[in-house]
Amino acid sequence: MLILGIESSCDETGVALVDASGSGVPVLLGDALHSQIDMHQAYGGVVPELASRDHIRRVLPLIDQVMQKAQRSLAQVDVVAYTRGPGLAGALLVGAGVACSLGASLNKPVMGVHHLEGHLLSPFLSADPPQFAFIALLVSGGHTQLMRVDRVGSYEVLGETIDDAAGEAFDKSAKLLGLPYPGGPHLAKLAQQGDPAAFKLPRPLLHSGDLDFSFSGLKTAVLTQAKKLGDHMSEQSRADLAASTQAAIVDVLVKKSLKAVEQSGLKRLVVAGGVGANTMLREQLNSACLEKGIRVHYPELALCTDNGAMIALAAGMRVQAGLETLQRGYTFDVKPRWSLAQIS
Ligand code: KG4
Ligand code: ZN
Repeated sequence: MLILGIESSCDETGVALVDASGSGVPVLLGDALHSQIDMHQAYGGVVPELASRDHIRRVLPLIDQVMQKAQRSLAQVDVVAYTRGPGLAGALLVGAGVACSLGASLNKPVMGVHHLEGHLLSPFLSADPPQFAFIALLVSGGHTQLMRVDRVGSYEVLGETIDDAAGEAFDKSAKLLGLPYPGGPHLAKLAQQGDPAAFKLPRPLLHSGDLDFSFSGLKTAVLTQAKKLGDHMSEQSRADLAASTQAAIVDVLVKKSLKAVEQSGLKRLVVAGGVGANTMLREQLNSACLEKGIRVHYPELALCTDNGAMIALAAGMRVQAGLETLQRGYTFDVKPRWSLAQIS
């Protein structure tokens, strides 16, 4: 069964084709991605209207590229999947509209996929795929959640951020340090030259006793320190502040993830979402998990941030799990706000 996946929830247009025949993990046959980062950089963040227009321009050529890479024709596609939410409404409508038109013209079923389910299952496409059940740390630009995942479609939220997401904390702090959008990878790079102990920054909710997160206070603390250093902040101070910020975010993510794993009695942790690409997070999780006999899995680096492969994969795994009744209905809606706990 060939499944074409289309991702257009934010600032990346992603398309991929997987083969979900049989019961094994779907096989990625081809994928292609266009990132809008360069376009939004001038504005310091995503401009939703520009994002939607660019998805329109990119999506059909990307579909062509994927079909060529996979050496398949559109007529061979069995299901067209798209990101139904959460995300920017206009951007989501592009993927949904294209998927439904394609489905209608090919007379094939169309399926809306939850973006975070895509992130969550993306480590199954890695060289070291996990097995169920596991605890998942989902850390993206818009979400920070700890979840218990027993099987495809069974997502129990154990804790989540009460304000900013981890990626947002990276991005907003980076902006305060004068770094370009998206700040996470830039801040991580600058942090390599800095001392993570140079500034004492708060670790919000670290000892709250629950598995929730809060990152908005950290951003305020970074702002206070940046103001103290003033306009003539030295390059070393900037790097030190970047390193201290990264250390604070990573520290909380690692400690809460371990707590969630210990409380669950499981021995497996899966990390997914854009912040999962962070080297310091990976290093600290690896050593903490090794010490406690916990297996930790990540998506391939290229599949940490938004992409079409995770959408095609999630669609394939849902079909394999018998969770989807494949219908040839082409009216569509999108869900800009949509909790993963609401799906099954
Ligand atoms: O999952 P994602 O691509 O988009 C959402 O669904 O939100 O995540 C994007 C987020 C951004 O906040 C970006 O700054 C962050 O992931 N990110 C990183 C790194 N790479 C991406 N944060 C820290 N270190 C990185 N290496
Ligand atoms: Zn995402």
